[in-house]
Amino acid sequence: MQKYTKISAIQEILLSEKRKGKKIGFVPTMGFLHEGHLTLAERARQENDIVVMSIFVNPLQFGPNEDFESYPRDPERDAGLAQSAGVDMLFLPEAEEMYSGSSIKMHVTERTDVLCGSRREGHFDGVATVVSKLFNIAGPDNAYFGLKDAQQVAVIEGLVNDLNFPVNIVRVPTVREEDGLAKSSRNVYLSEAEREEAPVLYRSLMDAETFISEGESNPETIISHIQNRITAETSGEIDYIEIYSFPELKEIRELHGEFIIALAVKFQKARLIDNIIIKRTQEEKQNV
Ligand code: PAJ
Repeated sequence: MQKYTKISAIQEILLSEKRKGKKIGFVPTMGFLHEGHLTLAERARQENDIVVMSIFVNPLQFGPNEDFESYPRDPERDAGLAQSAGVDMLFLPEAEEMYSGSSIKMHVTERTDVLCGSRREGHFDGVATVVSKLFNIAGPDNAYFGLKDAQQVAVIEGLVNDLNFPVNIVRVPTVREEDGLAKSSRNVYLSEAEREEAPVLYRSLMDAETFISEGESNPETIISHIQNRITAETSGEIDYIEIYSFPELKEIRELHGEFIIALAVKFQKARLIDNIIIKRTQEEKQNV
């Protein structure tokens, strides 16, 4: 595995590989790698000739009161894990390399007025800016994103569509701990007691799925079930529990078509997000 810190160096090599007809798979990350990230890389390994991973804690996507400074970092350990997942090229730029002298910032106008987008001002503008740059640097055929961050997937799909990036976005299902907690670099912020409570988030989403399969089609009823369980069984403070069509993220009055149930809960030092995406056809609805 080769490491690169300079844009021109990795861009040049990847351009020449592309000209030789090599298929490039790209996995953007902010590092502190866990099995979620590694699953993305392993999937990229199966579907491409060259696998590129970036590790860059992107200052543009953190708000002033967020955890940019304290975001967990361990580049040495990450390099070993990336290599074992089959990454060929690791791109580790400094912020200076990515942004010095920059004069353009993206502004995302759709799919950001709900969920994390409405609570983390400018977050998805920062994500869209860095991902656009990374796409231009890596020139991937396929780029891999986790559904753990489903709104990010929706925004990136919109970005690729709007700006005509010649890249295929691959949605990868959420990788979870055995007890159901979605893997996240931020799980290390949880206290021992909070870590025990945290799987309730996913369990409450699973309850919701069961209610829906039994015929419940009112979003408000589902939301209040989830809310009651999280309130009763965790010390976390609910930031949001919302249901929208996916990937458009528009309000829906009744649960059919493809929709997302997404939540964010604040613990003492960690804000956890999770979601499930459900597809329900008119037929299934009638059969209940
Ligand atoms: P980061 O949080 O490091 O996540 C990198 C990628 O790993 C994202 O596509 C994310 O959805 C995916 N991922 C994280 N946890 C996962 C899990 N448990 N299961 C499946 N996939 C998971 O997302 C970012 O970084 C940044 O916003 C980035 C896209 C790199 C732009 O800066």
